[in-house]
Amino acid sequence: MSTSYENEVIVISGASTGLGAATARLLAEQGFHVLAGVRREQDAERLRRPGLEPILLDVTEPSQIAQLVERMNTLGKPLRAVINNAGFAANAPVETMPLETWRKVFDVNVFGLIALTQALLPSLHRSKGRVVNISSVGGRVALPAFGAYSGSKFAVEGISDALRQELAPHGVQVVVVEPGGMRTDMAVRGEEMAHSLLERMTPEQRSRYNDTMQTFLSYTASMEQAGVSSEQAAKTVLRAVTAERSRPRYTIGRDAAVMSRLIRFLPDRLLDRMIASTLRRSSKAER
Ligand SMILES: NC(=O)c1ccc[n+]([C@@H]2O[C@H](COP(=O)([O-])OP(=O)(O)OC[C@H]3O[C@@H](n4cnc5c(N)ncnc54)[C@H](OP(=O)(O)O)[C@@H]3O)[C@@H](O)[C@H]2O)c1
Repeated sequence: MSTSYENEVIVISGASTGLGAATARLLAEQGFHVLAGVRREQDAERLRRPGLEPILLDVTEPSQIAQLVERMNTLGKPLRAVINNAGFAANAPVETMPLETWRKVFDVNVFGLIALTQALLPSLHRSKGRVVNISSVGGRVALPAFGAYSGSKFAVEGISDALRQELAPHGVQVVVVEPGGMRTDMAVRGEEMAHSLLERMTPEQRSRYNDTMQTFLSYTASMEQAGVSSEQAAKTVLRAVTAERSRPRYTIGRDAAVMSRLIRFLPDRLLDRMIASTLRRSSKAER
């Protein structure tokens, strides 16, 4: 175990499963003191180990954010990074997604990220630490049925770009991590949510969008199967946290790397056609 990070703290949200849990474990192994946000006691007990201190944190609960800051301050150690990893996916066409679901997606993925970042910025200014925002390839390119999720991740990208420029003169770095497909619980949760959103559609909406939803379901299943493991993905987050001079953006997985390059020069309509043909292929492969 390296000891060079022993006096430094990491805060990470959404550490119960997937990328958050793998990253919290990897950073604790590197010697960081990791304050790992979870929403349930049983997740806290499962996660607890030397260097990894679970803490109750729903990013939409201001009182829990305040308690986290208090704990951070009692540790008396510099904050190396806040990793905004908590995420929630709900997929359905824009027309059919209930407004309360839109709000939930943005509450977690956008406003939760802002609230946690604002609360920890005083510590980050003192430590010259960094903000690491877990976005998505969906924050660069939007597919049918991804309006809410991609909308929230596009927002994360824009907020991160502004914040990076605001904080650069103050020695605080801002990094965006953009995973493509990962083998985590998100696909299963997303599938359950998609089925419940399908059920809530009117018969007319269902006949209009059933194909879109079935294509979404086969696409996410294929993305998950081909995706990288959380442990593999966590290594990129470790780089984003520890690189002396971090890059503004890191992608995870070949799909994200290819897509983030393509969108720089492809005209919108050509990109639409490419997406449609990719979706058709993954739909056929599932059948
Ligand atoms: N999986 C992918 O293919 C993929 C691709 C691109 C980007 N991402 C992004 O990667 C990040 C991690 O996702 P994952 O794939 O590891 O999925 P995951 O296993 O479903 O993890 C999501 C985490 O977010 C937490 N969370 C949800 N709502 C929260 C809230 N209100 N407050 C605090 N935590 C909350 C969940 O906690 P609970 O267990 O308590 O619900 C869970 O710990 C997310 O930002 C996601 O958008 C994932």
